[in-house]
Amino acid sequence: SSDTAIAAMLLDWYDAHARTLPWRAAPGTPAPDPYRVWLSEVMLQQTTVAAVKDYFAAFTTRWPTVKALAAAADEEVMAAWAGLGYYARARNLLACAREVARLGRFPDTEEGLRALPGLGAYTAAAVAAIAFGRRAVVVDANVERVVSRLFAIEEPLPGSRPAIRAKADTITPQRRAGDFAQAMMDLGATVCTSRSPRCLLCPISGPCEARRMGDPARLPVKAAK
Ligand code: ADE
Repeated sequence: SSDTAIAAMLLDWYDAHARTLPWRAAPGTPAPDPYRVWLSEVMLQQTTVAAVKDYFAAFTTRWPTVKALAAAADEEVMAAWAGLGYYARARNLLACAREVARLGRFPDTEEGLRALPGLGAYTAAAVAAIAFGRRAVVVDANVERVVSRLFAIEEPLPGSRPAIRAKADTITPQRRAGDFAQAMMDLGATVCTSRSPRCLLCPISGPCEARRMGDPARLPVKAAK
């Protein structure tokens, strides 16, 4: 299949099977609030979707806007974060909220987002694509697994990261890059799972090289620690 065909198959699958998550816009509605997208992506970097849901609800109820969060006392935010772990992330979260409040809004490009305190490559790409409709290449661990299998990348992680990123770039569509990224993440979380991929349910099993080779769970290879 061509790269555009792969993207189209994934987007069709997403339209039918996207998980309903509190930080996503309902299908067919405008893009979600950048604050909610950013907050969810920061929380999701260290924790499962199931665990994040309650924290996301608590934060957005107490601090409905980035301005409100920026005005919160450090100790209150740290206390609300308790249980999510990795407290440096909560400190970065506040520093970032305060910088956005100072700017008056979230930057709407990947480059502008990347300049915010504590915002890494992944989060900048995710927010640019999901909240602002930018074409950005969003690669997390789920995406790494899907791409490694789709193109049968045999080189072990982490050395294969540049090759994975290049392939992810070729299949990322010009439009709907945010939906495409979330389709890849949902596929990795629910179908193209690490131990027992459900290829019969996969919208891209046709072009998948690892499936053709017969043992998709073998990939991605991980370098010995
Ligand atoms: N994991 C991290 N961000 C996600 C998102 N936007 N959708 C699904 N899973 C995710």
